Amino acid sequence: MLKKLNKLIVLGFALSLVLFIFSTSFAFEKAKFAVVTDTHMALYGEDGMKMGASSCKIVENTVKALNKIDDLDFVVVTGDLLLDGEPWNLDLMKAYLDDLRVPYYVICGNHDYAQAKTAKPGAAPYVAINKAAVIWTFQGHGYRGADAWWGADPMPGLHLIGLDSNVPVHWGGHIPLSEMKFLDKELSANKDKVTVVFCHHNFVAWCKDDELGGKFDKFQVDNGAEVRKIFEKYVPSVQLVLTGHRHIGLRHQKVNGINYIVNPAAVSYPNQFTIYTLTPDSISYETKWVPVEKEIIATGKANLLGKPGNWWRPSDAPVGAEGDKVMLTFFEGPGDLLKKGTIELKPIAQ
Ligand SMILES: [Fe+2]
Ligand SMILES: [Fe+2]
Repeated sequence: MLKKLNKLIVLGFALSLVLFIFSTSFAFEKAKFAVVTDTHMALYGEDGMKMGASSCKIVENTVKALNKIDDLDFVVVTGDLLLDGEPWNLDLMKAYLDDLRVPYYVICGNHDYAQAKTAKPGAAPYVAINKAAVIWTFQGHGYRGADAWWGADPMPGLHLIGLDSNVPVHWGGHIPLSEMKFLDKELSANKDKVTVVFCHHNFVAWCKDDELGGKFDKFQVDNGAEVRKIFEKYVPSVQLVLTGHRHIGLRHQKVNGINYIVNPAAVSYPNQFTIYTLTPDSISYETKWVPVEKEIIATGKANLLGKPGNWWRPSDAPVGAEGDKVMLTFFEGPGDLLKKGTIELKPIAQ
């Protein structure tokens, strides 16, 4: 009888040990990653609102700065890598990113391929790549095969989803039905993991102009309400959606349990990239200036407020001293120029 009891105790102990190992092997303690977005990199680029002449230096130096962060786990580049889909810029960008010490993931932006609007009747054809060229160039960096959207596990218990929001005809965004089906399936299959979604276009408005029908509604996907509903089905496994495209200082907004964060562009003022530290119950962010001379960033600021930045002016920021103040507040964002903060996350029940 005693022997039987001993056997049961040993078996029970072994079973708990297996369960313990099983549960911990699917969790991560901390993931540190960088988001670099909107580099619009151009060989022989020109300075405007986008600091094209410095764009190669911005990318090269950012890669060097990221390589100095000892505990960095991976990097995500959230679109608009290139000025306007030039093949030589694609190859050059790939060469710079391949110098990263850590794995990197890529999603496409609306400037990374030739859009139909560039096909003007009677005009010489515009030389540029198509979206498939981006996908095949960055195979293994999120992309696996021909799909423009992807899922990846950089470490046990952490899942990343890269969405493609680009449309062939203009600079706005849309998530097609087949991609929504993928998103739903992918989130359902990874419910036990912390999932972070990356997309170039936004799912929320960052100002009145971004709302549907507004002057700048192409900064958002046109079917955000439908996609947000899919995210919301999978709280708490997904609570983070990180985007680019807007070229403003880092902002955060929480809608129905999902934290939407827009990341600052590297190529235009305020030229920054972002370092995130993610744990199962919080995410901390810290933006950094791109590592170039202060004069370049000062010129970027002057160009944003000057003629090159006119296209980007919000409706409530007309040209002039008063409008400039409004515009600067919008682009820099509230508080300090470098943003730092922590967002609490609802842990996934074990
Ligand atoms: Fe951009
Ligand atoms: Fe964009």
